[in-house]
Amino acid sequence: MNITVVGTGYVGLVSGTCFAETGNNVTCVDIDESKVQRLKAGEITIYEPGLEKIFTRNLKEGRLQFTTSLKEGIEDAQIIFLALPTPPGEDGSADLKYILAVANDLGTMIKPGTYQVIVDKSTVPVGTAQRVREAILASATADIADAFDVVSNPEFLREGAAVDDFMKPDRVVVGTRSEKARKLMQQLYEPYVRQGNPIIFMDENSAELTKYAANSFLATKISFMNEIAVLCEKLNADVDMVRRGIGTDFRIGKHFLYPGLGYGGSCFPKDVQALAKSSTDAQYEFKILNAVMDVNKKQKEFFFGKIDTYYKGKLSGKHFALWGLAFKPNTDDIREAPALEVAARLLSQGATVSAFDPEAMPNVKREFSEDIKFAESQYEALEGADALIICTEWNEFRTPDFKKMAGLLKTKVIFDGRNLYDIPTMETLGFYYESIGRSAVMSV
Ligand SMILES: NC(=O)c1ccc[n+]([C@@H]2O[C@H](COP(=O)([O-])OP(=O)(O)OC[C@H]3O[C@@H](n4cnc5c(N)ncnc54)[C@H](O)[C@@H]3O)[C@@H](O)[C@H]2O)c1
Repeated sequence: MNITVVGTGYVGLVSGTCFAETGNNVTCVDIDESKVQRLKAGEITIYEPGLEKIFTRNLKEGRLQFTTSLKEGIEDAQIIFLALPTPPGEDGSADLKYILAVANDLGTMIKPGTYQVIVDKSTVPVGTAQRVREAILASATADIADAFDVVSNPEFLREGAAVDDFMKPDRVVVGTRSEKARKLMQQLYEPYVRQGNPIIFMDENSAELTKYAANSFLATKISFMNEIAVLCEKLNADVDMVRRGIGTDFRIGKHFLYPGLGYGGSCFPKDVQALAKSSTDAQYEFKILNAVMDVNKKQKEFFFGKIDTYYKGKLSGKHFALWGLAFKPNTDDIREAPALEVAARLLSQGATVSAFDPEAMPNVKREFSEDIKFAESQYEALEGADALIICTEWNEFRTPDFKKMAGLLKTKVIFDGRNLYDIPTMETLGFYYESIGRSAVMSV
């Protein structure tokens, strides 16, 4: 099939490449000229495990094209995906300006007598498929009412595992009431669900809400566990034990039960906020979501409070090593990364920061170059630091050389926002070690 993907970011590039991988001809459109040039030249623009290999192969075999021209990009497309940003607007709702601008342009390009399916892959509020349809019709100069359908097909991939998630999704959700669109979507996705996972067809509104419900539920699990962790510290319980104790119950499940610094990233914060706003607009107070957001904010305070208390509020002149900048491991995405908030707070209180992240440092340098020092390795970051703060659970931080660490740090102090280390081990090694929802090790 001929597929066009408009917006070549984390979702667009992965979707486009994975659609090409099953033999489709894919054109990716982006307004960012330098991004398009780099991609055309074979340079991958995001870090995503496994993506580069299939990107290079499909580019070489001519199934993957890149352009800045929407007109050229959609010319022969049977299906046009919109993988555009939907950032939070000032009132917390999803800002649809990127989507609607492209919809307006599409209205001038779709030809009568043809048929194209326009797919919202971005995370968009209920009613957006209808709004996109209206925007396309409003800017059309000919009668194109039968020349297109607008379908909702939210994306559930996880950054860091995006290729696997796309190639073998748990499910594909498609919102459409058009039989013609349904057939095309079924044909496109069939190769991805050969192991029997479902393509779930529903109406557009339900598909749009499904995505927000999924992300909000996952964020709720995280905030719930973060509150359990706080309670564990107060009641002298161990959150690791509680997590294992409840996670083995199949009704609860073992995923998303890890306490930490609060959720971040480009999706959860904005999606929870947008669903709460949609809810308020519909005259319904979604109480749980407000609590989820509140707890998430407090969790960062809770972690920072540990550092602040240890230094009795005197952080000025202290030097910190920071391990992990990306909002989670296996990605270079730093949007709403808790590490950046921690770094900003340390710097604003007169401390200095030396950071290391295996993939995210170029993005942080581009956006927050001024004050953070960037180390060449996780060990270099430790040199002369008063303490180590762990913000992202990259695998290479899990079993470090503690002896080497002790030699590099000025004082053997670790604040671990990801519960990477075993408490008895830290006791034996003689570190001062604070984590989340477990007893502190005071043996410095
Ligand atoms: N990142 C994720 O893990 C993820 C997962 C599921 C869903 N989503 C949703 O998918 C959507 C896209 O997210 P993302 O993380 O890929 O965003 P992104 O910012 O990484 O990518 C968006 C791309 O769109 C391009 N763009 C902006 N305006 C354009 C225009 N008029 N024409 C062509 N290109 C244009 C930008 O240059 C950018 O490359 C969002 O709605 C997001 O909520 C994201």
